[in-house]
Amino acid sequence: MTPDDYPAMIDLMRRAPGVSVRDADTPEGLARFLARNPGLSFVAEVDGRLAACLMGGHDGRRGHLHHLAVDAGCRRQGIASALVERCLSALEKQGIHKTHIDVYRNNAAGNGFWENAGWTRRDDTHRFSIVRGGSESA
Ligand SMILES: CC(C)(COP(=O)(O)OP(=O)(O)OC[C@H]1O[C@@H](n2cnc3c(N)ncnc32)[C@H](O)[C@@H]1OP(=O)(O)O)[C@@H](O)C(=O)NCCC(=O)NCCS
Repeated sequence: MTPDDYPAMIDLMRRAPGVSVRDADTPEGLARFLARNPGLSFVAEVDGRLAACLMGGHDGRRGHLHHLAVDAGCRRQGIASALVERCLSALEKQGIHKTHIDVYRNNAAGNGFWENAGWTRRDDTHRFSIVRGGSESA
């Protein structure tokens, strides 16, 4: 993934149920994320057109994935699985062995995907968040 993928990526994310596009998802926001996390985010192209995306990063301790989306016409062909594998493999090479993803509870496709992929659904933690200096959709 490069900053130039932004227009096609934002279009795909806006069409993907279960993906929440936030104020942070600007061209500058994507460029900053990629600069902080080089080589950890991937897109898949089908017939020269962006068909899937996954943003990966880490904070030095844990990996975090964001915005997994596959174009509706390209699903159930293993594309998401391949993107996740690329990302986890790249994280592992940087010494990051544990990675998190937030999934909306009402996202059946998303939850089905991560459960099938062998990820552990956490019922032992709550995620707490705070917004400072931005709007509620930060
Ligand atoms: C979830 C999503 C990314 C899966 O992409 P995909 O490329 O179709 O996934 P894969 O082909 O790699 O699927 C691998 C396995 O995950 C599971 N899976 C995938 N989609 C599923 C669904 N809709 N419901 C239940 N299980 C699903 C299946 O076990 C599947 O294997 P199978 O096709 O042999 O049955 C895609 O449906 C999507 O973009 N959805 C909208 C956005 C979204 O919800 N993103 C996730 C945010 S956390």
